[in-house]
Amino acid sequence: MSNPTEAELIHMFKGILFTTRSSPELLKSLDTFDAREDDVLLVSYPKSGTHWLAGVISKLYNTQVTLTSPIEFGDISKLEELNKLSSKRIIPTHLDYNLLPQNFKNKKCKMIYICRNPKDTAVSMYHYYRDNPNLPTVDTWPAFLDLFLNGDVVCGSWFDHFLSWEKHENEKNILFLFYEDMKKDLPKIVKKISLFLGLNVSDNDIQDICKKSSFSEMKNDTEKENTDPSHTVCVLTSNRKLIFRKGAVGDWKNHFTPKQNRRFEEVFNEKMKLSKM
Ligand code: A3P
Repeated sequence: MSNPTEAELIHMFKGILFTTRSSPELLKSLDTFDAREDDVLLVSYPKSGTHWLAGVISKLYNTQVTLTSPIEFGDISKLEELNKLSSKRIIPTHLDYNLLPQNFKNKKCKMIYICRNPKDTAVSMYHYYRDNPNLPTVDTWPAFLDLFLNGDVVCGSWFDHFLSWEKHENEKNILFLFYEDMKKDLPKIVKKISLFLGLNVSDNDIQDICKKSSFSEMKNDTEKENTDPSHTVCVLTSNRKLIFRKGAVGDWKNHFTPKQNRRFEEVFNEKMKLSKM
């Protein structure tokens, strides 16, 4: 069988690239989604630590919660499926703030945005593109870096995504987190998340959750569960080994040449002129 063509893998919606796993019909109907006040949204640009955060959050609850696949993944039946869930829903999404169903905003649902150094995100995404047959082929790192800086990758420009959410960072229902802070002091961030979600979690439980959420534990769990695709937030792969690659801060230094770094900084400084980052 021949490899799928680019048109079979990706399409453009409102100026942003999506994989064909997000059907145009679903994307068009997102604004009709009926959010519930107790929905929790887990928001990220891809490869920012979504699975890590999802792992932590699901362990914080001692009541029944359902971690769904991202709201924008699937076909038109997706919204109906989510409607049928009776338990509390934790819903991941890679959507830009402007594409987020209005109902989540009106109902002031809690949203947690996780951000990662975009240089590490770019490197992580490069490997994910390279190893995942559900994404277009990329030949080389320099070619991928061009695509990333131009926003010609799935979920669009990192800069536009971040800026669209950063505008709302002072809203009480939105919590901003950084991957690097989780790496530095996970218990502190887990405490912060539990307070934000209004959960009473003991220090012992926090320690336990952190242990179970370490990179090595999560990677090991993966190796045990690899056959169960329902354990993957990203429905672009059922191979969880692709998700847990290195889990490090600063891997970009192993990929960027000094020239690429200068170019990245130039684009970053220009695009992020109005950002507080
Ligand atoms: P790397 O490719 O740099 O290793 P996402 O879940 O948004 O797709 O992000 C995937 C990235 O998060 C991968 O980065 C992965 O290794 C990292 N990651 C996943 N679980 C982690 C954990 N428990 N601790 C640290 N990093 C983790």
